[in-house]
Amino acid sequence: MKGFLDLADLGLAEIADLLDLAARLERRPEPRALEGKILALLFFNPSLRTLASFQAGMARLGGSSFVVSPGQGTWILETRDGVVMDGAAAEHVREAIPVLAGYADALGIRSFAGGADLAADLADSTFQSMAGVCPVPLINLESAVNHPCQALGDWKTMDDLGIPARGGKLVLSWAWHPKPLPLAVPAAALHMAALRGMDVTVLRPEGFGLPEPIMEKARLAAAMSAGAGGSVRETTDRREALAGAHVIYAKSWTAPVHYGDATAEAAFRAGLRDWCVGNDWFDTAAPDCRFMHCLPVRRNVVVKDEVLDGPRSVVVHEARNRMWAQMAVLHRLLRG
Ligand code: CP
Repeated sequence: MKGFLDLADLGLAEIADLLDLAARLERRPEPRALEGKILALLFFNPSLRTLASFQAGMARLGGSSFVVSPGQGTWILETRDGVVMDGAAAEHVREAIPVLAGYADALGIRSFAGGADLAADLADSTFQSMAGVCPVPLINLESAVNHPCQALGDWKTMDDLGIPARGGKLVLSWAWHPKPLPLAVPAAALHMAALRGMDVTVLRPEGFGLPEPIMEKARLAAAMSAGAGGSVRETTDRREALAGAHVIYAKSWTAPVHYGDATAEAAFRAGLRDWCVGNDWFDTAAPDCRFMHCLPVRRNVVVKDEVLDGPRSVVVHEARNRMWAQMAVLHRLLRG
């Protein structure tokens, strides 16, 4: 493995190997596996889990890490190409990334969607241009339309819990949120579940359909899933979608029809506050249906206390699995 940018870059056998290794590292620590190795972490956006789990994971493998948050004790970095840098940014990523890579054996970058230009965000253009100047193995810590570390951890969580792959039914449900949120997690979760061979339903209000390139990528993943067992569909019918579900995976995302226009988007989502997952959502689901969310989550906005504090919620398990999954990625990138 030369980098970890997208689960779609890996074959099913490579993903199975990472999941096996993650489970092995959880059972049997290897505290010297990455002795002397250094991971650089460049965060353009805030984090709790990704930052802490990468630093903890690297330390558990005997390596070390450092974090750079541009503008917070370090120079503000410019990411756009071809601009006159007479504003706040003192340094361009075209220099900063090779410099950081010179101090480390691998680099992780978090760079969220710009949120203004849907085509540019769907192309993941900012992340891709940074990847182009990174001379060491690169890990995507969440970009405009991808979060492969979350996806791998979530896959492990479903395996841990015995949630069926083939025949397993995952409902990726839109949820209300006061802000227009990016497409990265819903896109990654949808792709992951389809690739795992699950029957995935995207449940969302009218006008919140995920962009076609995201849906098409998921359909392709379903077609190449083990035994081509997966399927992908969309609906606005909550009751019908949730019948027999093994997982309700909640996430808010911006309405593509108003991408880049926060005022119009806010008006569009007004009246949708009942898209908050409560216990009644599980009435027709499978008896042991689980609730998943990548976190952070707003209580009683996206999901009610009664669900998060109840036995269906596996959100902390998911967060813990981020570390084991990422340790497997680091192991394969830095040790082979
Ligand atoms: N799920 C996730 O990536 O969490 P953070 O934003 O806290 O890293």
